Amino acid sequence: MLTHFKINLKNHKEICNLFLPYVDLFLKGQSVNLFTENDKEILILERFLKDEIKQYFTEYPNIKMCALGGLAPENKLRPHIDGHYPPKPEQHWALNIPIKNCDESIMYWYDTDYEIGYASSTDDPMLIADNLQHLVPKYAGEYKVIDSCNLDSPVFVKVTSPHSVTNHGSKPRFMLSVRFYNELTNQTAS
Ligand SMILES: [Fe+2]
Repeated sequence: MLTHFKINLKNHKEICNLFLPYVDLFLKGQSVNLFTENDKEILILERFLKDEIKQYFTEYPNIKMCALGGLAPENKLRPHIDGHYPPKPEQHWALNIPIKNCDESIMYWYDTDYEIGYASSTDDPMLIADNLQHLVPKYAGEYKVIDSCNLDSPVFVKVTSPHSVTNHGSKPRFMLSVRFYNELTNQTAS
């Protein structure tokens, strides 16, 4: 199973500059971290991304939303599957774009022999920081890591297989996760 593939974005620095003001707000205690299709940031992001990423999609990609995710030093986002409860078809892939301090963030994927559970905000408030209600895998035995990726550069990641993220660094890290209306091509997403 393909879990991720890295890409080059020539506008990566400009995208960072677009979202760094929200990192500053976040560090001051405000939680402006979710952007949807009517927000001006999405329109600008679409201009930066479309021509560079259209080769990966079945149709010209439109952005559904993006979330700026913070993760504290030495902290871990528990294993989960992106989406809502009850499960329904969601986009399988997200484009993760490092915004700040992402050099020591690692994403892990786990084996797909699991049952689906549900994590509420009382289980783990970090899971709904982006207002999504996450699904969590329940394994009969131990969690088995099948792949991992350093999130230090732009990368498409599979988010409908169980995954977790750990910030091994000593600073809070900020990652932009972009979701699209369009699906990736079969060659890329199989
Ligand atoms: Fe996720």
